[in-house]
Amino acid sequence: MDDKGKSYSCIFAAQLKKLAMDIIESLQWRYATKKFNNTKLLPQHKIETLSKAFNLTATSYGLQPLRLIIIQNKELQKRLTEFSWNQQQVADASHILVICIERDLDEKYINSYFENVKKTRNTSDEILKPFREQLISSFSMKSVDEINTWASKQAYLALGNLLTVCALEEIDSCPMEGFIPAKYDEVLELENKGLKSVLVLPVGYRADDDMFSGFKKVRRSIEETVIHY
Ligand SMILES: Cc1cc2nc3c(=O)[nH]c(=O)nc-3n(C[C@H](O)[C@H](O)[C@H](O)COP(=O)(O)O)c2cc1C
Repeated sequence: MDDKGKSYSCIFAAQLKKLAMDIIESLQWRYATKKFNNTKLLPQHKIETLSKAFNLTATSYGLQPLRLIIIQNKELQKRLTEFSWNQQQVADASHILVICIERDLDEKYINSYFENVKKTRNTSDEILKPFREQLISSFSMKSVDEINTWASKQAYLALGNLLTVCALEEIDSCPMEGFIPAKYDEVLELENKGLKSVLVLPVGYRADDDMFSGFKKVRRSIEETVIHY
């Protein structure tokens, strides 16, 4: 490599290092927001970024057994607060994201995934057939509970992805398991849509007086949580 090449690669390495530091700073900046500014709304392009990030989440087999409900309706948010252990984040956040799993992960659903692969990548039926048959057979042997557990794991992946994207986009958020899924399903009429709610993610802007924003992060030390071999 000549001198010019070396200096370019130094600049590139320095930029990569800065990017890695920026990501850690963003992850330090984010926290589970307890009090949102109820007068501020996220712009539409930020909601679109979150929608795209949700849709790009990696899932097991690529089956995407998920849907995202996006609520921007203060009256509805107030109603859902009652079924969220009265956590005010649900009432005050700009938008509420509800991560749902599909109720019917049956042969028809799996076939629709393979139709999408075929259309998107122009892959022949012949090539897809063994994988298609294997998935249909393996899902047909699972109980409803097993399938729901598998799908819920994918919902948690989407949550993790959204939390990171929120941090990078300077969107405040609060991951939440503290709600009554059956009540959300009822209020949002999710059964009619073939869905079950699994996780809730209020997003928006932190209130100036959210005391949690100033708290130090509580984490085990890296030496304790990361093991090198
Ligand atoms: C799956 C999951 C569920 C959570 N549920 C709630 C919740 O219902 N209410 C809440 O205020 N925080 C909830 N949290 C936030 C955690 O308490 C918080 O992420 C953790 O204490 C670490 O703090 P930090 O996110 O501020 O760094 C949840 C977090 C996760 C990942």
